[in-house]
Amino acid sequence: MANIIVVGAQWGDEGKGKIVDLLTAHFDIVARYQGGHNAGHTVIINGRKYVLHLIPSGILHPQKICVIGNGVVIDLSALKHEIEELEAAGISCKGRLFVSTRAHVILDYHRAVERAEEASRGENRIGTTNRGIGPCYEDKMGRRGLRICDLLNSKSLRDILKMNIQRKNALLPAEEQISLERVLAEAKRLGKEMSEYYMDLTEYLNRAMDEGKKVLFEGAQGTHLDVDHGTYPFVTASNATAGGACTGTGVGPTRIDGVIGIAKAYTTRVGEGPFPTEITDATGEQICLRGKEYGASTGRPRRCGWFDAVVVHYARLVNNLDTLVITKLDVLDAFEELKICTGYRYKGQLLQSFPTEMSVLKRCKPEYTAVKGWHKETAGIIEFNDLPVLARDYLKRLSHLVKAEISVVSTGPDRMQTIITSPQSRLHSWISF
Ligand code: GDP
Ligand code: IMO
Ligand code: MG
Repeated sequence: MANIIVVGAQWGDEGKGKIVDLLTAHFDIVARYQGGHNAGHTVIINGRKYVLHLIPSGILHPQKICVIGNGVVIDLSALKHEIEELEAAGISCKGRLFVSTRAHVILDYHRAVERAEEASRGENRIGTTNRGIGPCYEDKMGRRGLRICDLLNSKSLRDILKMNIQRKNALLPAEEQISLERVLAEAKRLGKEMSEYYMDLTEYLNRAMDEGKKVLFEGAQGTHLDVDHGTYPFVTASNATAGGACTGTGVGPTRIDGVIGIAKAYTTRVGEGPFPTEITDATGEQICLRGKEYGASTGRPRRCGWFDAVVVHYARLVNNLDTLVITKLDVLDAFEELKICTGYRYKGQLLQSFPTEMSVLKRCKPEYTAVKGWHKETAGIIEFNDLPVLARDYLKRLSHLVKAEISVVSTGPDRMQTIITSPQSRLHSWISF
């Protein structure tokens, strides 16, 4: 048994929710470490669909503890709504869901600021989820943010809100001015209502680990949306990469044993920003339709493209991925021919590393290897050797290009539609299936 981090290896929506749910059976605690309700994690169990945004995807296992770390930004009304939806589906969060008292709180004004900022960017907009995520992290880094622990202290709550609202009102138009008393009353009410979930998680997690409890760290978004390592500025505002698991929960790096990267068998991206392997013709539309590529949080259609080994190879590097999970293989069942991007050419030269500047990435031409599609149904296959030979070859090729083993292949959205590959994989050294 081990403590493991799950990260997205592309631009988010890789199927992390499904995989975290699957792996939770082998852990005691699932800890979300960054992002907010910009995330949308879909889990399907026996045909029943659950969509999680803030709550770890481990919550569907009734005996497990789920925690939301200090690195997450929390909209309390979104959290309340999510808890209520789960309770309506017969899943109780009471006594097994905890939120760090060090986590920062998203308030209404963060959304107002985000709308104004996105509008002012015009053509250069990021295409954010408009959940107030970026402005909340800005306040955190600006050392004026409101934390969960401040919600139950009337004086700090008023002082922090007053300072923030003065600043925000200076930025907002007359018709969007924020009333301190209104925000204060709402924060007090919700802050108190949700207080049974608050906890000093740094203490809790480290003590639990001392006692031998095993933790699965759940990353939201993906490597290329990471504020430091992603395609900046077309990124989210947090560290979605593996390093974020330590800062976002208060657990030291040497307590963690490994990192699992999740990637789709192709690539998608929501929002703006360069996307070298994007397919803008009917093939792209077909992938979008077959993969049901519509955002779980915003309903926006996702841009679709071929598997980009440069993207996932870079994710292997920044996260030191031990092993890879490839999801949505079944979506490619319908294609006669598939392409895999093996490198980028910029001004005629083959690049040796992932470009830092978006002006360069935008002009990169993908180098493709075309491979024959297997053109047979793989949906629901649970044994690697039952996959068509060409599908196995495709996976081996991805593994070779990314320089990482593939330990799990997902062949459908349901928990059961999963292949656990070779018992020699790194995953098996941590978990006995
Ligand atoms: P996450 O944000 O990484 O958790 O991913 P999302 O849940 O936003 O998006 C992944 C979508 O693909 C969800 O609708 C899943 O139900 C679905 N999905 C996951 N794995 C598979 C798979 O192997 N095949 C198919 N067809 N769908 C999958
Ligand atoms: P999961 O966890 C895909 C994208 C937005 C936008 C950019 C910044 O489901 O994989 P933000 O609102 O975070 O400031 O938006 O990041 N984005 C995601 N894309 N999956 C996600 O989460 C995302 N969370 C944010 O579309 O381009
Ligand atoms: Mg998602």
